[in-house]
Amino acid sequence: MTETNKKLKELAYQSIADAEKIVVNDPYRMHYHLMPPVGLLNDPNGFVYFKGQYHIFFQWNPFATNHDTKFWGHYVSDDLVHWQPAPIALAPDQWFDKNGCYSGSAIVHENKLILFYTGNVRNEDGDRKTYQCMAVSSDGITFDKKGPVIYLPEGYTAHFRDPKVFERNGSWHMVLGAQTLADKGEVVLYRSGDLKNWTFLGPLAGSNHNGLDDFGYMWECPDLFELDNQDILIVSPQGLKADGYLFNNIYQAGYFSGTVDYDKTAYQHGAFTELDRGFDFYAPQTTLNNKGRRLLFAWMGNAEEDEDMHPTTNYSWMHALTIPRELKWENGRLLQHPVEELKQLRGNRHDYSDVTVKEQDIQLDGVNGNVFELNLTIKEWDAQEFSIQIGQDTYLIYSDNTFTLQRKSLTDSTKMESRHCLLKSLENILIFKDTSSIEVFINHGEEVFTSRLYDDPSENIVTFNANGNVVIDVQKWDLKKVSK
Ligand code: FRU
Repeated sequence: MTETNKKLKELAYQSIADAEKIVVNDPYRMHYHLMPPVGLLNDPNGFVYFKGQYHIFFQWNPFATNHDTKFWGHYVSDDLVHWQPAPIALAPDQWFDKNGCYSGSAIVHENKLILFYTGNVRNEDGDRKTYQCMAVSSDGITFDKKGPVIYLPEGYTAHFRDPKVFERNGSWHMVLGAQTLADKGEVVLYRSGDLKNWTFLGPLAGSNHNGLDDFGYMWECPDLFELDNQDILIVSPQGLKADGYLFNNIYQAGYFSGTVDYDKTAYQHGAFTELDRGFDFYAPQTTLNNKGRRLLFAWMGNAEEDEDMHPTTNYSWMHALTIPRELKWENGRLLQHPVEELKQLRGNRHDYSDVTVKEQDIQLDGVNGNVFELNLTIKEWDAQEFSIQIGQDTYLIYSDNTFTLQRKSLTDSTKMESRHCLLKSLENILIFKDTSSIEVFINHGEEVFTSRLYDDPSENIVTFNANGNVVIDVQKWDLKKVSK
């Protein structure tokens, strides 16, 4: 361990110790989501199943709720629900990563856990450099940095980052997020036989490729995998303009599906589909577990979007990861389901069958609280509008084939703000509510709305409202506290 490494880690642990008593007093500290112990969390990194355990790393500034520096924080779990903090995995202590160990991925090879990440370097004059680096671990806990394995190729700006490595057709491959010298977002592909020497194969997708027009000036955090014979490329493009209900956040996260020709570095794909329709979802990353399940975590946040307005900054922390989700490919689209392991969180249960909602303000005994899972099935529908009010300030509304999530504005608490999606019919709503977040899975994962909420915790009644006649079944569980 270098002196700088030791010093940086000491400072980070000191920062955790200093904030320990502050953080736990935050009423918005969550009960079952992964959060930073202190400071700011952003992208999930290095999600992997290694020697019988799940590892998730995260972009982390331990010193402040801003993006000034980035470490890799680390949690380990047997079951995707109960997570233990592990020692800091990467600290920005080397010439090739001194201004941030930026996002990346993990693979398991020859009994080792191997990380690939972006070393971000800023010179005094603000000039940016980027290096794709490798770090190796035998125990999954301490990592030995091996330095850069890829340098910036010609034709690209230094916005070239977020390596995702995977095996395909007997070779290692890597996708990277990139920006061309003409300011176009792309995903590029590399191949390697030994994980150290990498061959640049060229762009695989991006602005002005594969039938796309201009599609953003930078693509971040790509992830490419096969699911049910589809090649799915998940990516977070920057620079898309809002288009009706589409692309309403500052940056987007979504996917393409189609077929990759790995010999020709070619990808035939369909349209870009957003993975989530809420306010706070970015930089998702997947892994395959030992049972062949494709699992996903995302950052429950979005860059540069009124970040200092999050009240958790008063308690020295900011942002969280989403709940883990499982991806399925069905009827030509990706579905997201909360992982079944989350059932372990369930406590008290309340069940209601055939409740007729035909007026405003229907309340059901026990259907309240700040932290719960609520599963609602629509049995009969003869209405213009149906809505659920959660607490004082959060609404889920279905009307005119449009589903809406409305929350109190982060920037002006006297105002509401909304996100929408078109939805042909409403069959089921599954809600995961935590103290300051909501994840709404509609029609068994067809659409998802993920958002942070900073509502008054004492206002925690759930009410159902209909303009017409709607018959519903409701199951509600309290959820246990497992996070610190
Ligand atoms: C996405 C991102 C990545 C980068 C990381 C830095 O949120 O900008 O492209 O590696 O965050 O924290």
